[in-house]
Amino acid sequence: MLAFTGAGLAQSYPAHPITIIVPFSAGGPSDAMARVLGERMKQSLGEVLLIENVTGAGGSIGVGRAVRSAPDGYTVSFGHLGTHVANGAIYKLGYDLVADLEPVVLLPSNPMIIVSKNAVPAKSLKELLDWLKSRPQPPTAGTAGAGSGSHIAGLYFENVSGIKLQYVPYRGTGPALNDLVAGQIDIIVDQTSNSINQVRAGNIRAYAVTDSKRVENAKDVPTVDEAGLPGFHMTLWSGLWVPKGTPKEIIAKLNAAAVEALNDPAVQKQLENLGLQMPPKDQLTPEALGAWQKAEIAKWWPMIKAANVKVD
Ligand code: MLT
Repeated sequence: MLAFTGAGLAQSYPAHPITIIVPFSAGGPSDAMARVLGERMKQSLGEVLLIENVTGAGGSIGVGRAVRSAPDGYTVSFGHLGTHVANGAIYKLGYDLVADLEPVVLLPSNPMIIVSKNAVPAKSLKELLDWLKSRPQPPTAGTAGAGSGSHIAGLYFENVSGIKLQYVPYRGTGPALNDLVAGQIDIIVDQTSNSINQVRAGNIRAYAVTDSKRVENAKDVPTVDEAGLPGFHMTLWSGLWVPKGTPKEIIAKLNAAAVEALNDPAVQKQLENLGLQMPPKDQLTPEALGAWQKAEIAKWWPMIKAANVKVD
């Protein structure tokens, strides 16, 4: 068996398919973004990028799987503000989100959108807030588990609205959305890319997007500033990481393939059509994602820790 050194490994990389671990269920927004990018990255890398959905515990199970994989570039961790920032403030992870991972590239971000089941008799965000406040029990909010982006968005929503929510965790917001359409839960503070097609189809109601400007693919949905929750701004950014110890040359190859995908007009159209916003062009180095993740930890951990989230 030829033992590869870092340089040798990098030279022949990739020599077989690469796995991207998506820590949420198929059919959700993370899965959708990973599949679009993986498909285009295959063209640059010359090897298939297989998507493996490893779910549970707000995405921390899947990230843990990636952290413990060989640092050889054949296992890539897809994640975001929830999995690679918030989870560190909620779970005893058994790994360190900064020390045990190497950043590869910042990916597109998603404003959140406040959506409800159709049965809610509200025609505006103000009417929705009044309806939620009038519930005899805390209204139910679907999430992808404690620490997921939809859960962090829910905590933020509670803080700005003063409305207590009863969280209903799923293995991703794909299944959560199915239950919202079926009227099983009251709301989701969801990624726009996930909910927008159901909003367009009239299967759920949208009230506001958590951005200072209206979202390209949901121009008729007001911003939180217009609708009555001023300053409730949150965009869920995503990224790719690999285990600590992965050779720099391999990280560079993965980064180059991801940047080529992000610069591809066809990929941009696909992602923007989902309401996703491309990352700034000067933020596409591995170092930029590393600095961004550290800044987001400093920004979000105080609120999340103050929420005192109980996870068994
Ligand atoms: C979340 O954090 O809510 C997840 O991204 C949902 C998903 O991708 O399924």
